[in-house]
Amino acid sequence: MDTQESLLNRRSIRKYLKDPIAPELTEKIMTAATWAPSGGNSQPWRFYVANGAKRDELVQAMAEAPGPDAPSIEAFDEIIVPDVEGGLRLQGKGDASEAALKKLGEDFQKFNRFGSIRFYQAPVAIVVAKPQTGGSSLDIGAAVENLLIAAQGEGLGTCWLGMPLMFKDKIREVLDIPGNEDLVTCVSLGYPDNDSAINRMARSRLPYDQTVHYLT
Ligand SMILES: Cc1cc2nc3c(=O)[nH]c(=O)nc-3n(C[C@H](O)[C@H](O)[C@H](O)COP(=O)(O)O)c2cc1C
Repeated sequence: MDTQESLLNRRSIRKYLKDPIAPELTEKIMTAATWAPSGGNSQPWRFYVANGAKRDELVQAMAEAPGPDAPSIEAFDEIIVPDVEGGLRLQGKGDASEAALKKLGEDFQKFNRFGSIRFYQAPVAIVVAKPQTGGSSLDIGAAVENLLIAAQGEGLGTCWLGMPLMFKDKIREVLDIPGNEDLVTCVSLGYPDNDSAINRMARSRLPYDQTVHYLT
């Protein structure tokens, strides 16, 4: 796959196969993440890659964490993913996609919220932190995009996740993340279930002319 194709084909994966990822493969992807550009080559990213029992512990801890809408593991399992093929567009609030989302009802929203804090049941859960003393979240963004694209190149899927940060304290506790690092974002990683409608739903981008301006 050439680079352009790879970038245009990347999509958020929200249903994964249970197949584990070979450690060498995870290492290859994480290496690509660490080769991202950063301001002054500060490399402020700190990746916490939770596998196996640690990943289960993390997901369980968040599912049990007290707080608004803290759902149970069972609640997630009960949610039936609606068939969103060709229907849903995930974009910002207030655009036409909001109406599409409403039409699908509460189910997708629940799936999205519950699923996110469970890293969509992916076999690998990655948390990205940054030293409080330096670096920018722009650097983290660059590293995460490297991660997503590298994963895709290996036939793996990812979803960039902000919602697990609702449970920062739990994440910090389970992964033993030092107090002098800020949690910035999370990513789920695993083999995509390509048969799942959720992984095939239509996506869109704003009209090209609205976001790209040429000046001569
Ligand atoms: C900073 C950030 C936070 C995100 N948080 C979540 C999240 O918590 N749950 C989720 O399902 N998707 C999350 N996403 C994925 C976006 O919904 C997705 O990238 C967007 O809808 C475009 O779809 P695509 O990735 O398939 O191209 C996040 C993306 C970014 C960049």
